[in-house]
Amino acid sequence: MGKTKLHKYERVQHLPNVTFSPLGESESLGSYPWHGVRYKGMERVLELGCGKGEHTLAFAAADPFRLCVGIDSKSHRICVGAEKAMALGLENVHFFRVHIERIREFFAPRSIQEIWLTFPDPHLKKRTIKNRLSAAPFLDTYAHLLIPGGRVHLKTDSEVLYAYTRESVETWGGRVVAAVNDIHGADTPGADDSGFGARDIVSSFEASARSKGATIKYLAFTLGCDREGD
Ligand SMILES: C[S@@+](CC[C@H](N)C(=O)[O-])C[C@H]1O[C@@H](n2cnc3c(N)ncnc32)[C@H](O)[C@@H]1O
Repeated sequence: MGKTKLHKYERVQHLPNVTFSPLGESESLGSYPWHGVRYKGMERVLELGCGKGEHTLAFAAADPFRLCVGIDSKSHRICVGAEKAMALGLENVHFFRVHIERIREFFAPRSIQEIWLTFPDPHLKKRTIKNRLSAAPFLDTYAHLLIPGGRVHLKTDSEVLYAYTRESVETWGGRVVAAVNDIHGADTPGADDSGFGARDIVSSFEASARSKGATIKYLAFTLGCDREGD
């Protein structure tokens, strides 16, 4: 392991805005910072597979009344976002080092307004398709966590994952509310009204994919009840 990575592994352990998943039994829900009184009444946004948390930081900076939680299994990546949040004085940001497969254990049902899947691995091999973050078991989890009408947003440079997700959502019984096949394209239908985050936040992974000629696709969908109170 490189020295820089090693230093981040050491530093991240001491950051007040980072939580590590317990290895064994989960603690009670109330013990996790995002359920604390200081965040009471705030909307909650999750970025899954956040890497350095560039979307998480931008969402938090744009709205101090939203609590934004970036989730990733790689603590050296989380370290970058968490230190940046502290340098920027953002108090509505938290990072959580956990495998996404386990998030249902740590958040209350119907407590999340938005879930962002930012450039998840497309898992192109047949045997790993089940690991795609839009496979049915993940959709079950998102439906469990989202408030009625809450949305999931996907950004991807993978045509395969984009098409797969549309089909997976429809088969699951969800509703695709926006589908844009080139979010940065000048005349792409739907790109203009895709909402904050789809094209005005560009992560380093996204910038690198674009520099290699990839187009960025965006999908938004709901799962289950579409309106609050349904
Ligand atoms: C391609 S990177 C994208 C990072 C970031 N979202 C961006 O736009 O720059 C995918 C990220 O997802 C994380 N990841 C993949 N599978 C995961 C899982 N099952 N649980 C937690 N994190 C995961 C990886 O560690 C990696 O940081």
